[in-house]
Amino acid sequence: MSAPVVTLREITAETVRTICELEPHDAQSGFVAPNAVSIAQAHFNPVAVFRAVYADEEPVGFIMWRPDGDGASCFLWRFMIDKDHQGKGYGRAAITLWLKSLPPQGYKLARTSYVAGAGGPHGFYLAQGFQDTGEIRANGERLMELVL
Ligand SMILES: CC(C)(COP(=O)(O)OP(=O)(O)OC[C@H]1O[C@@H](n2cnc3c(N)ncnc32)[C@H](O)[C@@H]1OP(=O)(O)O)[C@@H](O)C(=O)NCCC(=O)NCCS
Repeated sequence: MSAPVVTLREITAETVRTICELEPHDAQSGFVAPNAVSIAQAHFNPVAVFRAVYADEEPVGFIMWRPDGDGASCFLWRFMIDKDHQGKGYGRAAITLWLKSLPPQGYKLARTSYVAGAGGPHGFYLAQGFQDTGEIRANGERLMELVL
């Protein structure tokens, strides 16, 4: 059997509850906000974009981003793969789709930030090509960037 095809899909009235029920392992809860909180925040940020991550027809995760003010860089704001679906390559496939979508929209830089800690996503982002900038945001998160 071939590997599931990963896609980023719009969330609808029919799927929003399922997407809100996707969650990381308890030990990872400090690394990303609950999806319901992210979707609520997006409704108060006119430039935020969010999508569900699907593996074939199964919802497995959530991704949300916002353009930076300069029009040249885009900030990965939230990203998670549900605990039952981690370690299957879906995270890498989803972030690869997102990164590939950026240059055609004129972006030259992808940015993100992470909470440091055991089991956190720093190693994952390094493996995807992000590099530490050395900057720390006011909320304590560490910034990373990837030149597209
Ligand atoms: C980080 C996260 C999105 C990775 O998703 P995933 O689907 O499990 O990752 P993948 O299966 O695609 O892994 C791709 C590679 O990254 C590695 N990897 C995955 N998570 C990692 C981590 N936390 N640290 C280091 N490496 C990691 C995998 O081992 C794999 O490496 P390989 O190619 O050598 O086998 C997922 O663990 C998650 O949702 N974490 C909790 C929420 C979070 O921290 N989000 C990011 C903050 S906004």
